[in-house]
Amino acid sequence: MNEKQRLESQQAVQEGNSSDKKSGKDYSKYFESVYTPPSLKDAKKRGKEEVKYHKDFSLPEEFKGMGQGRKFYIRTYGCQMNEHDTEVMAGIFMGLGYEPTDSVDDANVILLNTCAIRENAENKVFGELGHLKHLKQQNPDVLIGVCGCMSQEESVVNKILKTYHQVDMIFGTHNIHRLPNILHEAYMSKEMVVEVWSKEGDVIENLPKIRRGNIKAWVNIMYGCDKFCTYCIVPFTRGKERSRRPDDIIQEVRQLAAQGYQEITLLGQNVNAYGKDFEDMKYGLGDLMDEIRKIDIPRIRFTTSHPRDFDDHLIEVLAKGGNLVEHIHLPVQSGSSEVLKIMARKYTREQYLELVRKIKAAIPNASFTTDIIVGYPNETDEQFEETLSLYREVGYESAYTFIYSPREGTPAAKMQDNVPMEVKKERLQRLNALVNELSAEAMKKYQGEVVEVLVEGESKNNPDVLAGYTRKSKLVNFVGPKTAIGKLVKVRITEAKTWSLNGEMVEETQAVEVK
Ligand code: SAH
Ligand code: SF4
Ligand code: F3S
Repeated sequence: MNEKQRLESQQAVQEGNSSDKKSGKDYSKYFESVYTPPSLKDAKKRGKEEVKYHKDFSLPEEFKGMGQGRKFYIRTYGCQMNEHDTEVMAGIFMGLGYEPTDSVDDANVILLNTCAIRENAENKVFGELGHLKHLKQQNPDVLIGVCGCMSQEESVVNKILKTYHQVDMIFGTHNIHRLPNILHEAYMSKEMVVEVWSKEGDVIENLPKIRRGNIKAWVNIMYGCDKFCTYCIVPFTRGKERSRRPDDIIQEVRQLAAQGYQEITLLGQNVNAYGKDFEDMKYGLGDLMDEIRKIDIPRIRFTTSHPRDFDDHLIEVLAKGGNLVEHIHLPVQSGSSEVLKIMARKYTREQYLELVRKIKAAIPNASFTTDIIVGYPNETDEQFEETLSLYREVGYESAYTFIYSPREGTPAAKMQDNVPMEVKKERLQRLNALVNELSAEAMKKYQGEVVEVLVEGESKNNPDVLAGYTRKSKLVNFVGPKTAIGKLVKVRITEAKTWSLNGEMVEETQAVEVK
């Protein structure tokens, strides 16, 4: 859409479209905008203004019947943050009277909640949009929306506006609470509705949520990221760091405990920066964990940790154990101090290893997992070897490994890169071989041991087998009664594979030592 079309479309909304064609009601106050495109430049700005907390969110009364007789479908890509945002959007849909469906074919609204972290994540979404074109041709009344991190990118929005006319609405990660208004605009408007705020310093409480299960739950503790690692798009797509108030978080966790949830994962892009934005008190992740551990819920996790902000108080609190699990996901990205420097990770190999040493000293049975990027611009063989040697030195039990993917607008995307793709692929293969080797080794140690498993359901491949996870997030398959689903049970490991364990359930009455 060019500037002229944009103005025309805004005018159309302001002048004519602001009443519901069916009910004749005046909705003009809800049309703040129909076309607010993203700006990476604005998204980069970090103002000094205070975080605003909105605690009075409620669904606009006028829109509550909007979903009557309609169904929604949301496909989620990317990280836990997106998974959780989907739960919020599902809550909003249900509040508006929509029903959920598992199939795009009978959905009236289809949302793709997208991820922008690597090029292949984005390509998947464009592929899916291609498939949805037929659906739109068969049923022009179906609404198709793109939200999540890709919507925050100018280039993506422009590409959709130009090529993917089957899309009816694009809205950003800061606009989720505006979903009712955006849907309404999309029903009213012939134009594609674009509402993406690029600069956001707010925290919105009391959003409705429909959680995906009743065993494990996500709880946001903070939003955004201010780290600006040179390769990463997240600080642009998720805005500045802002923490939820401890009372709101604790209240949410208490409620989940009362509802019978067995495991909570506290979420943030850099949870160790929790509380740094509070101006009225000194309160960090260690303080929060120290309060949450007292809540009667069997397992508490958190993700993702940035090594730089992992402080001694947090280590001290984690060492108290109990429901705080001894599994620490600590993304390192590279084992070379030189590469870490140009990644702007702000720690060296030595500082990272020192942190691991401190954690191991305080929590001797801690297990570590990590994220690694190979093939950063101009990464040398020697620098890559340093990543391999660090991997062994820490003794990670598992890792997410990636080939570097240039992201438009980030500093790294402008760097010259002399590493051919073939070399990057070969490095990834070598790293993955090491990841497999160490995972298999870690798994072998469980042979014959008894572990505590939180049973999540039937195994994907065999309904006679149950599947669940240990405190250290190892997948365990075992034969057991369906009544065990949703409970913590003891399982003796009979077979260790590279990525999972097989076992048999131990009678509750048997006294055994649990690993
Ligand atoms: N906030 C988290 C990471 C979130 S993104 C942290 O800092 O640990 C998850 C992972 O994706 C990152 O840890 C990194 O390994 C990978 N990643 C991020 N940007 C990438 C890029 N441009 N190319 C390849 N991998 C990337
Ligand atoms: Fe991205 Fe770095 Fe922020 Fe993680 S800490 S989200 S890698 S910028
Ligand atoms: Fe992807 Fe956005 Fe998460 S880019 S990894 S969905 S924060």
